[in-house]
Amino acid sequence: EEELHHIVHLPKVELHTHFEGMAPPAFIRGLAKEKKVDISKIFRPDGSYDYRDFWHFLEVYEAATSVLKKPEDFARLCTAVLEKSAENDVVYQETFISPDFCGGGDVGAWKEYLHAIEDAATAAERDFGITLRGIVTCIRHNGPDQARAAARCAAETAGGFITGFGMGGDEKQGKQRDFAWAFDCAREAGLQLTTHAGEWNGPQEVRDAVEDLGVSRIGHGVNAYTDIALLEMLAEQDITLEVCPGSNVFLGVFPALKDHPIQKLRDRGVNVTISTDDPPFFHTTMRQEYAALAKTFGWGEEVFRELNATAIGAAFCDKATREAIT
Ligand code: ADE
Ligand code: ZN
Repeated sequence: EEELHHIVHLPKVELHTHFEGMAPPAFIRGLAKEKKVDISKIFRPDGSYDYRDFWHFLEVYEAATSVLKKPEDFARLCTAVLEKSAENDVVYQETFISPDFCGGGDVGAWKEYLHAIEDAATAAERDFGITLRGIVTCIRHNGPDQARAAARCAAETAGGFITGFGMGGDEKQGKQRDFAWAFDCAREAGLQLTTHAGEWNGPQEVRDAVEDLGVSRIGHGVNAYTDIALLEMLAEQDITLEVCPGSNVFLGVFPALKDHPIQKLRDRGVNVTISTDDPPFFHTTMRQEYAALAKTFGWGEEVFRELNATAIGAAFCDKATREAIT
């Protein structure tokens, strides 16, 4: 009991969140009301987000995001989500921000959105003691052309707040290599790279992510667990998995937390970290993730300290920021 309390309240480093995906349903409802748009169909009677499966989740996600219109809306979102993360003892967080939602890939518009978000993040750092960094993210089901536009936005704003480039969205659409130009463009701008792989597809998707895009981190990557040679490669190349156990269980990737391969991945020497992905959508928080993992796998405080050390090591921020959070 005593130890669980201690574990749950540890300072945390979280690498995998989607900026809009952190929006509480009440926040989105409030904006919808202000802007007089009717998105009532995406909510259940109890007020939570309503969707059937991952693909429906992506639709509901986009409907919720549609009420975020101006840079100022994203700034308000930033303040709201960082307050929540700080309440969960998160001291450093990375979040996926998509030009697709912020100006549609236009560099000038993107800069306005980004500056508004960054100003709010700076204020939140002062007020709540949490540091945020952004990973510019393309959306796989929006295709390679939109991804190239996102990469140009990323390249134009690389450095400082923007530390990485990534890809989310529907893994069943296209191939990782279709996005190689975008990832090369981001790499040349000095950004570090991550992509969602092996959440819905099998181990080959994770292999493709490493071989075709040259990423140093993988979003999820959990379906690599069936391929021992791949796990050896991930360990050998020091690639870090951004594991989101609660997201995986809620979306049905694994039936229950006890069936999740996170322990197997650790046993094979793969770098794993813990994140919430889209906390209100999956009815989770970082504190809940820690509590559930401690109970299910019997992990003690030393395991969570190790997970956080791995996350700090794999964070995309500069050395000074990294040292300030350790
Ligand atoms: N976008 C938001 N959450 C996502 C997830 N878990 N996988 C892929 N794309 C996403
Ligand atoms: Zn994700």
